[in-house]
Amino acid sequence: MNQYERFEPMNPPNPSGETPPPMPLASADVTDRVWASLVAARDGAPDAQDGWSAAEKAAWSLYEPLLGSNEGSVVFAQIGQSLDGRVATVDGDAADISGSEGLKHLHRCRALADCVVVGANTAIQDDPRLTVRLVSGDDPARVVIDPRGRLGDDAAMMAGKGGRCLVVQCCDRTRPEGIETIMVPASHDGVDPAAILTALVERGFRRIMIEGGGITIGRFFDAGLIDRLHVSIAPLIIGAGPSSLTARPISLLSEARRPTSRVYGLATDIVIDCELG
Ligand SMILES: NC(=O)c1ccc[n+]([C@@H]2O[C@H](COP(=O)([O-])OP(=O)(O)OC[C@H]3O[C@@H](n4cnc5c(N)ncnc54)[C@H](OP(=O)(O)O)[C@@H]3O)[C@@H](O)[C@H]2O)c1
Repeated sequence: MNQYERFEPMNPPNPSGETPPPMPLASADVTDRVWASLVAARDGAPDAQDGWSAAEKAAWSLYEPLLGSNEGSVVFAQIGQSLDGRVATVDGDAADISGSEGLKHLHRCRALADCVVVGANTAIQDDPRLTVRLVSGDDPARVVIDPRGRLGDDAAMMAGKGGRCLVVQCCDRTRPEGIETIMVPASHDGVDPAAILTALVERGFRRIMIEGGGITIGRFFDAGLIDRLHVSIAPLIIGAGPSSLTARPISLLSEARRPTSRVYGLATDIVIDCELG
């Protein structure tokens, strides 16, 4: 088997509901030259993989789809979770769910994105900066979906250095100077994720990352708007707490989405890369 055969789809749509065949795990080694090539490709340079190891090529395969094509936009989500599918404790401790390589993975995803979107709960509970600190790369613009204007003006993402910060809201709420607001209509079902994406694309964003939490990712997932989902799993068990992806429930497993997926090992965490688009 050559190494590209490892990346053939292993679990195509399976309407019979049968268990798909196991997915092979590829070790991904994001060396400096792999990362430099990805950042260059983000800016339009052709890729060059001469002399790369299989693990370096696997790393490229993990991240390259996040760059999208030259035409149109790409929407990807990344969620770091425990073995039991949690993203925080019931008391809100969310800092160290991912291992060190899982955290670097998160920062790589941010560095490849034009903007990073979080929901109001995440912005309020975690107060994230949404910057790139663990790898080299530019900070993305920061976007929070805060329909009811709950997020305080002292939020770290609003105070962060440089870069654009945008708030998606339904209410008439003035934000601090320099913060862009996107007014969207509210419906009985919240805000239409398609309207949010349209507004972001209109403002020049092409690579759009949905960082969480589970409710926000679930809204985009249910609307069929996520092209790529990275589920990063760290070997810890939390017991209870917010779920990773809060999708619309189904009653039969035959109704479940079974995306084409590939599994990558990142030393401390595994990443399941799901092709949804
Ligand atoms: N491990 C990770 O990778 C990761 C990443 C991010 C977050 N987290 C954790 O996730 C937890 C929070 O996640 P969560 O699922 O509870 O909440 P969330 O997704 O962060 O925020 C949900 C809220 O955002 C607003 N919202 C988002 N999309 C909307 C839409 N389409 N229409 C209307 N409103 C929308 C709503 O605010 P209103 O209720 O104000 O209307 C909604 O209640 C935190 O504990 C955080 O630490 C973990």
